[in-house]
Amino acid sequence: MNTSNSDFAQNGSLPDIEQLSKLANELFTALPCDGSRIGIAASAVQGGLTSSLPGADKSGIPQGFGLPGEAELQKLFAPRQSSFDGVPDSLDTGAVFGNRSSAATSPLAGLDKSVLDGVLPHDFGLPDEAQLQQLLVSRVPSGSNVPVNGEAASSPAAAYGLAASLAGFDASLIAGLSPRAYGLPGEAELQELFGSFSKPSAGIPANAESGSSFYFLDELKTGGFNSQTPTLASAHPAFDVHAVRRDFPILKERVNGQPLVWFDNAATTQKPQVVIDRVSYFYEHENSNIHRAAHELAARSTDAYEKARDTVAKFMNASSSSEIVFARGTTEAINLVAQSWGRQHIGKGDEIVITWLEHHANIVPWKQLCDLTGATLRVAPVDDDGQVLLGEYQKLLNSHTKLVSFTQVSNALGTVTPAREMIEMAHRVGARVLLDGAQSVSHLRVDVQALDCDWFVFSGHKIFGPTGIGVLYGKAELLEAMPPWQGGGNMIDDVTFEKIVYQPAPARFEAGTGNIADAVGLGAALEYLLKIGIDNIARYEHELLVYAMDALRTISGLRLIGTAAEKTSVLSFVLEGHSNQDIGVALNRAGIAVRTGHHCAQPILRRFGLESTVRPSLAFYNTHEEVDLLVSTVRRIKSGKDF
Ligand code: ALA
Repeated sequence: MNTSNSDFAQNGSLPDIEQLSKLANELFTALPCDGSRIGIAASAVQGGLTSSLPGADKSGIPQGFGLPGEAELQKLFAPRQSSFDGVPDSLDTGAVFGNRSSAATSPLAGLDKSVLDGVLPHDFGLPDEAQLQQLLVSRVPSGSNVPVNGEAASSPAAAYGLAASLAGFDASLIAGLSPRAYGLPGEAELQELFGSFSKPSAGIPANAESGSSFYFLDELKTGGFNSQTPTLASAHPAFDVHAVRRDFPILKERVNGQPLVWFDNAATTQKPQVVIDRVSYFYEHENSNIHRAAHELAARSTDAYEKARDTVAKFMNASSSSEIVFARGTTEAINLVAQSWGRQHIGKGDEIVITWLEHHANIVPWKQLCDLTGATLRVAPVDDDGQVLLGEYQKLLNSHTKLVSFTQVSNALGTVTPAREMIEMAHRVGARVLLDGAQSVSHLRVDVQALDCDWFVFSGHKIFGPTGIGVLYGKAELLEAMPPWQGGGNMIDDVTFEKIVYQPAPARFEAGTGNIADAVGLGAALEYLLKIGIDNIARYEHELLVYAMDALRTISGLRLIGTAAEKTSVLSFVLEGHSNQDIGVALNRAGIAVRTGHHCAQPILRRFGLESTVRPSLAFYNTHEEVDLLVSTVRRIKSGKDF
């Protein structure tokens, strides 16, 4: 290595593209790796540094690396200068590539624990893990418009694109490493890691967009998604599920001596480190009540809280942040609409339409309102696959229909409802529509303007954010016309004993001190997802769901509950001869967490003649290997081996 690394250290400037290319070339040439795989990696990342990678040293033996010594590298690696939006510098643990996030950056980070420690030990005089990560990652200024794979490395910014491309290098490169051949340490661990990369299904299929009937691509074609949203599927490479998993510390837990398999995502999702860190940071550096004081911490907490509101608005494509009300969760948000708008607008003789798919949270508040006002609750039926019968739904709509409230994704079956169509049908008779997004937001892109729903509700904890925080979106003119639900501080403009003047929305619906820290944590979760790309997530999960459904179908005596053509995440089933509870307990012995029971959706389970099911539910950090384990464990349970 004869690049003038010391220059970088001396003047603190970034290396230019040529120097960085050379440096990285030499690094990767030195890795024990099959040259053909390098070629694959190079074409896969389409440019940047990888296009200039030489055929790797086929001998692959880590000898004569010719890499800079540690001291030299240390000089090269200056401390990082910034962090991604919304998270203070000290918290930025990897989500530094504009739209690539940790999922993209951590491929190299991914080399660290399992690979780099083994492949590039100090014995060889090579830089250590932290240095390598810094080499390829930390010089990328976060929050900048970092070019991702495929962008020509012809501008000053291309140096950063280079590093981004390297990050994208991960899966293919690792697939080519053969630790056994080199007798390197950590072999078993490495083989496990590499094995998972070799599954063709572990990434997103290259042809996912062609001829697909995936619901989320149809949405794209029909304009359901806002084309301005910066996460269009075609603009992003696949994320690396193993890198994503490293963002979620709890996924390293062991349960009953087995690695945890978290298949209870419909109940709650796990939290990435960026969310955990963001909430901690709030309490360490920003904690104050909001809006009420002139002091510094009040300003910090208010800024953080309102920034989170802005992020939510951006995430769901609301036209303004003032359309976003923070609530405790989906349940509270629905109750807010029922008690505020509902009491104001629903009366005797009016009708409220829901569907058989609803969670209790989207049944009980409306039934209570009907009981209070003399209105009638009407319910749209579903077919044997769990799909709303649109013809029957249409028949329920008439001039008495004041409100339609339904779920975008069923928590018990996974059915994705044709929300836009149903909303349009309801609007034709003059009804308002509330869409329950509790189970949809983490799986498919939500665009409230394209959907044209009047309200949209979801919970933070189902989308990798904290518990105790959720969102009510409402169209601005509706929120402004709605009376407050709860009264107290924060929501008033002026109070006398004679008269109270309320704040405009959203503050008028946020009485008392809210869950400030967790709102900020929710903002961090949504930023994280925006960077990975919801469309990437939707594609990956859809493929995983189809894989799991097909595998479960091969088990005789297993009945899948919820087989809609358009579904996501949920794999409800019952197994002949075994109680759901026993299956849940047996799966837990294997480290697999699923929910068993009625899932707070008794009417829809009874529609299928059941009181409960076993309900594995997927998220984007789940893998095909975990599905394989689920299926093989259910087979064992069926054969009686686990009882
Ligand atoms: N609503 C959550 C579920 O479906 C609790 O499990």
